[in-house]
Amino acid sequence: MSSVVIVGAQWGDEGKGKIVDIYTEFAELVVRYAGGPNAGHTLVIGDEKLVVRLVPSGILRPNTRCVLGQGMVVDVDVLLGEIDELTRRGHTSVTERLVVSDRAHLIMPYHILVDTLREAGARADQAIGTTKKGIGPAYEDKARRLGLHLGLLRSPDVLREKVALALEAWRPIIEALGGEQPSLEEALAPALSARDRLVPLLGDASHITHEALTRGVRVMFEGAQGTLLDVDHGTYPFVTSSSAVAGGAATGAGIGPSRIGKVVGITKAYTTRVGAGPFPTELEGASGDHLRHVGAEFGSVTGRPRRTGWLDLPALRYAARVNGLDALAITKLDVLTGLPELKVCVAYDTPDGRVADLPIDRLTGPGAATPVLEALPTWTEDLSQARSLAELPEAARGYLKRLEQAVEVPLCLVSVGPGRHQTITLQDPFDAR
Ligand code: GDP
Ligand code: IMO
Ligand code: MG
Repeated sequence: MSSVVIVGAQWGDEGKGKIVDIYTEFAELVVRYAGGPNAGHTLVIGDEKLVVRLVPSGILRPNTRCVLGQGMVVDVDVLLGEIDELTRRGHTSVTERLVVSDRAHLIMPYHILVDTLREAGARADQAIGTTKKGIGPAYEDKARRLGLHLGLLRSPDVLREKVALALEAWRPIIEALGGEQPSLEEALAPALSARDRLVPLLGDASHITHEALTRGVRVMFEGAQGTLLDVDHGTYPFVTSSSAVAGGAATGAGIGPSRIGKVVGITKAYTTRVGAGPFPTELEGASGDHLRHVGAEFGSVTGRPRRTGWLDLPALRYAARVNGLDALAITKLDVLTGLPELKVCVAYDTPDGRVADLPIDRLTGPGAATPVLEALPTWTEDLSQARSLAELPEAARGYLKRLEQAVEVPLCLVSVGPGRHQTITLQDPFDAR
């Protein structure tokens, strides 16, 4: 199999960055296919820790080319800042290895303004808890055909005309939200000043990806966010605005679904969510605090404390279905060490009876489904040095078995710490037939 999609199976922050970095040891091309700088993918190599938001997580592999696909929305200042930081840290030939789709969309200052004003002005029960990076408004402009391809950076006069049109469309909204309408020059400034550096990076991402797939080299599609944040399949409206699921890799990278080899879902050993919206297995109290503090569950983009809860097996079954998961990688198993109690959600009770899959539209309101929890044996041993399943305590192995049995998807990797080597690899998805 020469292509693998890495997709978040929960509400994001599952550890996709770490897993992409591991598997790209053997990949020639890594393509991010959705989202923008709302993502924060953490890479820990030795003493170095780096969080990438737009640049694909394959960038630390010196021979890997990285592509920002056309399904993405790009904030030029964030992208240039990331390139500078990577270069400052001594990573070589970053710009030579980076291609930005000229059909990805620009995040403009007015997108960030509207995102921020909406969140500030929303009723408490309606705020999404976005990252305020302009993601929603940028995808809105794309869908209503007022968006701006990055390719427009090549034609500043056309860009100016299109920005003027978009600004007029946003004017009544900005006014109604009590904001100050930016001038045309203010709106254009970041894009115009980034032109000289970004135009040389622009390219046909679909063509590059297609060509690599045809040569049979290993191509990794890097998902951002997670299944339950997907605009179609997530806990709508408490979702992001892009196609985070594996199917999004086809449209977001510009290839046909037949070119996707394997799909690997990433899940934590428990669940987290940052931002508002339903979270049936959410914990309050000592166990929730344990997960937050031992797991360092604070947003890598916004620093917000993440909400924490038990592992939701029906949600993983749902993720397995909507993504077509071939395998699951589980991260942060080490964080469960020392918990006084350990539970997993194994089913949901609904007014129509017990169900094994997440009832995605019945998580709130009258007759909301309630999670059925099962207690499992705990352990106290440190797992961070384990490099094989045999080195794990029996209770931890039992936990993994319970997961595999309920989700009916095989595990391909178990992560026991943030570092590259704190990993138990069970199967290389590129080799799997
Ligand atoms: P992503 O958005 O899916 O790439 O995930 P994030 O980087 O936002 O969040 C995952 C966090 O967990 C990061 O701080 C990682 O360094 C860390 N992490 C990843 N795998 C493990 C693991 O197995 N154990 C522990 N303790 N931390 C991990
Ligand atoms: P990675 O790729 C976790 C959440 C936000 C909010 C909702 C909508 O690091 O896993 P947006 O700014 O996208 O309009 O916010 O989606 N969110 C994420 N949560 N990880 C992410 O990315 C996220 N990207 C967006 O917190 O609830
Ligand atoms: Mg993240």
